[in-house]
Amino acid sequence: MPVPTNSLIVKHLTKRFGSPAGDIVAVDDVSFEVGPSEFFTMLGPSGCGKTTTLRMVAGLETATGGSIVFGGRDFTATPAQHRNIGMVFQSYALFPHLSVFENVAYGLRLRGLASGKARARVERMLDLLQLRPLAQRHPADLSGGQQQRVSIARALVYDPGMLLLDEPLANLDAKLRVSMREEIRRIQRDLGIMSLYVTHDQEEAMSVSDRLAVFNRGRLMQLGSPAEIFEMPASLFVADFLGQANFLAARSVRLQGGEAMVVLSGGDALPVPRVVTLDATESARLPADCEGLVMVRPNRVRLDPRAGFIPVRATRIQFLGGIVRYTLHGDGAVDDLTADVQRPVPGVVEGGAAALSFAGDDAVVYLRQGSQ
Ligand SMILES: Nc1ncnc2c1ncn2[C@@H]1O[C@H](COP(=O)(O)OP(=O)(O)O)[C@@H](O)[C@H]1O
Ligand SMILES: [Mg+2]
Repeated sequence: MPVPTNSLIVKHLTKRFGSPAGDIVAVDDVSFEVGPSEFFTMLGPSGCGKTTTLRMVAGLETATGGSIVFGGRDFTATPAQHRNIGMVFQSYALFPHLSVFENVAYGLRLRGLASGKARARVERMLDLLQLRPLAQRHPADLSGGQQQRVSIARALVYDPGMLLLDEPLANLDAKLRVSMREEIRRIQRDLGIMSLYVTHDQEEAMSVSDRLAVFNRGRLMQLGSPAEIFEMPASLFVADFLGQANFLAARSVRLQGGEAMVVLSGGDALPVPRVVTLDATESARLPADCEGLVMVRPNRVRLDPRAGFIPVRATRIQFLGGIVRYTLHGDGAVDDLTADVQRPVPGVVEGGAAALSFAGDDAVVYLRQGSQ
């Protein structure tokens, strides 16, 4: 199959750091491809290897093993300055003594672009990022969001083949983070530029990305579109990391025609079409007395004062603006259960009994390896 001119192919990428206590495997045999114009996000908890992976793509860190090919060229040993990559960091890293205009123009001057051409390009970037009125200001006179816009303009001004962004919104307040992520997505679409984005924030990742790679402990756990990963998490880790998840012990599971008949602690049998077999590590962590776990999202459950198939007790009721959140103890629940509902449920009070139910179509069953 011909390689698209602008695609990125990462194969078996590995990075070990030596330390007195022994080697740290920061990135462990990671492989993925990113298409031209794609917005691709690496998502995972702190310390899972996102930044190290990004830095190897940028050429700021040498790989211990594996390869990076961009546009048909092997990048693995190419120095950073020859990779034609734009990079945006959490810290804006602007030059304090230069104006916004000069900060954006800096990379072009380094590359020796004639000043007339450079001016036109800088102005185009200032327009794209709505920075034109601030062109003569210095970084100290800008808000955090404006400074981050300058660093994005600076990364894009020399027309790089790829844009890398490492937690670019982490220093901004919650409201600005939401508007800036929409702006980054708009600019990325306008320019059609391949982008690799790093974040630990699952909502941010799902809202902007074409595809996600979920990392844990240096390994790539799952690749797919936000909807695919959210609807069908391939592991308990991913189910738990991507949004809230309720886990219930399955007393028994019988497979028939690709569907699972699951018996929960209450004794009811529930047909669940989405079935995942766990790997050895996660299988070993299941509670001893069950064949697997059933996962259902808090906004897909029903809470009633009486009828339902899981007897629960409400321990806390919170009004969270748009929703009401019930925290519940229930038989066979691995942890506290959560029910997010539109309106308070009459008859369910803190400390009182209630019953939980949900449709099998809204659940995923995770089977212990070797149980079937
Ligand atoms: N220069 C380094 N020297 C030693 N260990 C490092 C270095 N950089 C990162 N690490 C370790 O590698 C792991 C992955 O780090 P990093 O890629 O920064 O994670 P993330 O960006 O997902 O938070 C962590 O355990 C971190 O402590
Ligand atoms: Mg990081």
